[in-house]
Amino acid sequence: MTEILLLNGSPRRGGNVSRLIDEAAAGVVQEGGTPRVIEVSDLELAYCEGCGECERGAVCAIDDGFRTLHDAMISADGFIIGSPVYGWFMPAQLKTVLERSRSLLRTGRLRGKLGATLVVSARRGNMNVANAFTEFFRNAGVMSMESVFGFAGFPKGEIQHDTFARRQAFETGTYMVRLARRGDAMSLAAILGELPAVLTSGALRKTGGLWPDVPGPHEAREEND
Ligand SMILES: Cc1cc2nc3c(=O)[nH]c(=O)nc-3n(C[C@H](O)[C@H](O)[C@H](O)COP(=O)(O)O)c2cc1C
Repeated sequence: MTEILLLNGSPRRGGNVSRLIDEAAAGVVQEGGTPRVIEVSDLELAYCEGCGECERGAVCAIDDGFRTLHDAMISADGFIIGSPVYGWFMPAQLKTVLERSRSLLRTGRLRGKLGATLVVSARRGNMNVANAFTEFFRNAGVMSMESVFGFAGFPKGEIQHDTFARRQAFETGTYMVRLARRGDAMSLAAILGELPAVLTSGALRKTGGLWPDVPGPHEAREEND
């Protein structure tokens, strides 16, 4: 089963970002994947307090709605993150998710997964949001696939007129499922090809996703520290 997590980072339900999330979810279903939608606005989320526990622990020390998202990110094969542009950037709730995901970067548990963003603005700021997520994916060892830019003013449903973005969102869903399956096949081939070495060196435990032998960016950085 290929599970794709679709995260709606808009504070309002049923808005323009929601519509693009629906398109992407339809694409996932068309390819036989399983979409799981989480609304950030449903989560009880406290701000990061800078306690630094993420430098040691496996999960953010604050025990609230973030834990649900944390577990969902680990179990998914890929993420599609939807965000409106608020003040030339992402809404505060979604920024909080990025900050509180820090332990996931350090522990490398997102390595080899796939990532994409769907960003909707009235006019300006999409690139700022997409860049932030591309950096997040890069640090997490997530393969960044696509940034879809949609344009819609405040009225709910205005994104219906942006047929290009809607099609891109749908295709992002389909491609992600296909790529995730191919990644699984590559990992399996790598494991089978390296079976004797794996059995003796314990490398199986370290093998992950699309780049089985490449250290994640965080590990590489630690080696250089
Ligand atoms: C508080 C707020 C700030 C916004 N800031 C921007 C902005 O900086 N640039 C822009 O082009 N659109 C801005 N917008 C417009 C939204 O990005 C746009 O209406 C989007 O379609 C909303 O997505 P939603 O329907 O999923 O909530 C802002 C809207 C709100 C409510």
